[in-house]
Amino acid sequence: MRPSAAQRLFFILPLGAQENRSRFVGSLKKKFAEQEVESLQQRTTIMSKAGTPYSECLVAVDASTGAVLACIDLRTPCALTGTHPHGVPQDDPHGCYLLNVVVREDVRGQGLGRGIMLTAMARAVRLWGATGMYTHVEADNEVAFGLYHSCGFLEHSNDCRYEAASKLGQTVLLVAPASAVAAAAAA
Ligand SMILES: CC(C)(COP(=O)(O)OP(=O)(O)OC[C@H]1O[C@@H](n2cnc3c(N)ncnc32)[C@H](O)[C@@H]1OP(=O)(O)O)[C@@H](O)C(=O)NCCC(=O)NCCS
Repeated sequence: MRPSAAQRLFFILPLGAQENRSRFVGSLKKKFAEQEVESLQQRTTIMSKAGTPYSECLVAVDASTGAVLACIDLRTPCALTGTHPHGVPQDDPHGCYLLNVVVREDVRGQGLGRGIMLTAMARAVRLWGATGMYTHVEADNEVAFGLYHSCGFLEHSNDCRYEAASKLGQTVLLVAPASAVAAAAAA
């Protein structure tokens, strides 16, 4: 039986809406990626007067294909740049802030997250003399909590000055001492 014009329209409309929606999502993703690349370039190329970057991004790549598997950002301690990194408590001039740790979805659960975290922490201690590493975690992100705890992070304080309400929920400030690097690597 041939569908009537009205029936054809009924099928075509949702398909058209779907097509528009996926184009819209695609262009939003592209825009987001472009903004992220621009912001990353700005963050990592601006140097302090002492010649130290305010921020670094470490990337783990597949040795055979060059594909990016994981990344993490680090904010340099105030003692090196003269500017206090956002996220580190004001009374710690030697604190380094870690953020944006992400592992590609299909290679999660294989130790890459802990590997790149510990590499970043060891770099901050060795190169910048960081005595403490800080990060914020969303209170309901159990996987990230597990990752941070396995790298020696503990809750910094119950003081609500250090907590922030994000759009997705409450975030908690965590801290790890420099000694956590060796301890976590040896565990
Ligand atoms: C969080 C994330 C970086 C972990 O990376 P990963 O490579 O999968 O982690 P690892 O394999 O190194 O595991 C490290 C620890 O994380 C925790 N973890 C990892 N996968 C887990 C899972 N599926 N369920 C519960 N805990 C998990 C465990 O505590 C694990 O330690 P263990 O192996 O001793 O049990 C990854 O899941 C991710 O990219 N998530 C999306 C981005 C994100 O949430 N980032 C954190 C922002 S605060």
